[in-house]
Amino acid sequence: MYTPAQLQEIIENAIQNVPYPSHPERLYQPISYIMSLGGKRIRPALVLMAADLFGADLNKAIPAALAIETFHNFTLIHDDIMDNAPLRRGKPSVHEKWGVNNAILSGDVMMVESNKHLSMLDTAVLKDALNTFNATAQGVCEGQQLDMEFEERDFVSIEEYINMIRLKTAVLLGGAMKLGAQVAGATAEEAEQLYQFGENIGIAFQLQDDILDVYGDPEKFGKQVGGDIIANKKTLLLLKLKELAGDSDLQELEKQSVSQDFEDKISNTTLLYNKYNIRELATTEMRNYSEKAFNALSALAVPEERKRELILLSNQLMNREH
Ligand code: IPE
Ligand code: IPE
Ligand code: MG
Ligand code: MG
Ligand code: MG
Repeated sequence: MYTPAQLQEIIENAIQNVPYPSHPERLYQPISYIMSLGGKRIRPALVLMAADLFGADLNKAIPAALAIETFHNFTLIHDDIMDNAPLRRGKPSVHEKWGVNNAILSGDVMMVESNKHLSMLDTAVLKDALNTFNATAQGVCEGQQLDMEFEERDFVSIEEYINMIRLKTAVLLGGAMKLGAQVAGATAEEAEQLYQFGENIGIAFQLQDDILDVYGDPEKFGKQVGGDIIANKKTLLLLKLKELAGDSDLQELEKQSVSQDFEDKISNTTLLYNKYNIRELATTEMRNYSEKAFNALSALAVPEERKRELILLSNQLMNREH
């Protein structure tokens, strides 16, 4: 079994060794920029861990890990355009540095690069892997569309919200697990059990992301704290607040939602969250989903000690600061 730290090193090496053309510079520079800004590399780690559960040769899983991480970084570039986000991983976002049009096109070419990685997989697993990757990528687009539509809506149910984050974020963690299982030659049932683990961990992961967006330490978070509040994102925190707040607080919230004074908007909305203990409620919900994930993992018939690193990584994710 590999530890998360060992896998991290394997992934960093593989990422650094991917060759990109040098021209046109403005097409390829953003790719090297975003790929080397040092994210947490969770998704490729999940691909490799899933393959490792079945004792596979990890070299066979690396193209799948690279495809997933490249795709993830592409979605971040486009997500930052859609969310009007100035910061990513503590540095200016790609569209801030190269402009929106360049950011769109570099993102597009990253999708192509992801496919090139996938094409390096063994032909025996290629069809299943492509199906998993495509279903995942399509889900992410659907989730991102819903995320944007919800910004404009007054009422979004918690069920709709969970489905939206399942699509925009969790299917990718589920897909990473499933791909890892598939390249390791696992059965369809095993791959599905791991998908269920990944999807539930992914929902918990996005809940934590939404909590950090309000409560993260600006020095450590690497993104603009309060970005979701500025954009009127329908996060679980906002939906819970709307459920619980009294009439005068609801009016205050309504007033803040149209405020152009962003500093005020962030601090006043956060005060309302604090008043109704929204952070604790969201944390409980996050734990419920990680619990579901661990139950799915328990059902998988591989020796318990092989699952240890996966459980360790998941717990780190629930306690992260960025
Ligand atoms: C950010 O993902 C996008 C979300 C789905 C919340 P990560 O938090 O995994 O970002 P990096 O790759 O570590 O920067
Ligand atoms: C990200 O959701 C989902 C995808 C990138 C597909 P967010 O918009 O919350 O992610 P961050 O907070 O910008 O990383
Ligand atoms: Mg965003
Ligand atoms: Mg977004
Ligand atoms: Mg976020």
